[in-house]
Amino acid sequence: MIPGQPIGLSFRQKSNCQRQRSHAKERRMSETSFETRLKASAAAVESCLGSILGEQAQADEIARPAPLLAAMRHGVLNGGKRLRPFLVMESAAFLGGDHQAALRIGAALECVHSYSLVHDDLPAMDDDDVRRGQPTVHIAYGEANAILAGDSLLTLAFDIIAAPETNLPDRQKTELVLALARASGIGGMAGGQALDLAAETSAPDEEAIVTLQAMKTGALIRFACEAGAIIAGSGADERRLMRTYGETIGLAFQLADDLLDLTADAETMGKATGKDAARGKGTLVSLRGQDWAEAELARLVAEAEALLEPFGARADILNETARFVAHRSH
Ligand code: IPE
Ligand code: IPE
Ligand code: MG
Ligand code: MG
Ligand code: MG
Repeated sequence: MIPGQPIGLSFRQKSNCQRQRSHAKERRMSETSFETRLKASAAAVESCLGSILGEQAQADEIARPAPLLAAMRHGVLNGGKRLRPFLVMESAAFLGGDHQAALRIGAALECVHSYSLVHDDLPAMDDDDVRRGQPTVHIAYGEANAILAGDSLLTLAFDIIAAPETNLPDRQKTELVLALARASGIGGMAGGQALDLAAETSAPDEEAIVTLQAMKTGALIRFACEAGAIIAGSGADERRLMRTYGETIGLAFQLADDLLDLTADAETMGKATGKDAARGKGTLVSLRGQDWAEAELARLVAEAEALLEPFGARADILNETARFVAHRSH
């Protein structure tokens, strides 16, 4: 049986009216707890990363060059929604995984995500000057330091997973290393970034855009959710469920990013907007239009909620996260 499956009167046996009332109540309750939990987990991740990125060289490190450390800290300790670590922690909590281990895996994932942003902003890629409301790493510390900060953040992620402070059995650590490597490299984020750059000149069709977005953005978000199941030592069914939930909200996340690139202002976003159209980038928004994108976001949220329906109120936070991902303002 899947943990959290309601016992007694099942969800499907409730009347429509009961269901709507309880949904509305769950939504009101979860909104407050969602915001509180997102803020609390972001603060915990910042503090964990802040102490990992201290001046002191660790065992088997020879020295930590100050400009590179400063560039890494700038790239990862500069705000950000911290959605991916939140997903690791909430997915782990949902399935009964250890909180401290989830925090460290979330911090590792945030290192990969932040590295991807540092490199994404480089002149050879999107050539952006502002990220998370501050100068991008190459603007603040130069291109060479930005490239090396990205390299070092990526490497640090695997250090954090393998380190003895991450209190998980070796088998689970190995599974996390493999899953994060597959999500980050040529068949995941980095490969997706290559396809995304090619999409500035190649006019990809809808299927090609969905594939590249599943890679460049979806893979790390899918990892975040699956990691929760790995940390919890869950079985294959739960792991598959979390992967599918992650894939669904991952698609919604990039669709919302592309929509916000068109509709939001740079100050709210903390980064330049209007860039996709200016670069002629093929996105689902450029291909299908804003109205379609909004309807598609609603459809993806409904799909994520349907996946978690058997869990009832226990899935409140994950359902709320799906809505946040799709309907966020930044
Ligand atoms: C931005 O990710 C890059 C994309 C994958 C679209 P986020 O919107 O999660 O950025 P931060 O981490 O909050 O800055
Ligand atoms: C970036 O996509 C995805 C990454 C893997 C970093 P974008 O290029 O659309 O992200 P933003 O809009 O610069 O944050
Ligand atoms: Mg990009
Ligand atoms: Mg970009
Ligand atoms: Mg974008």
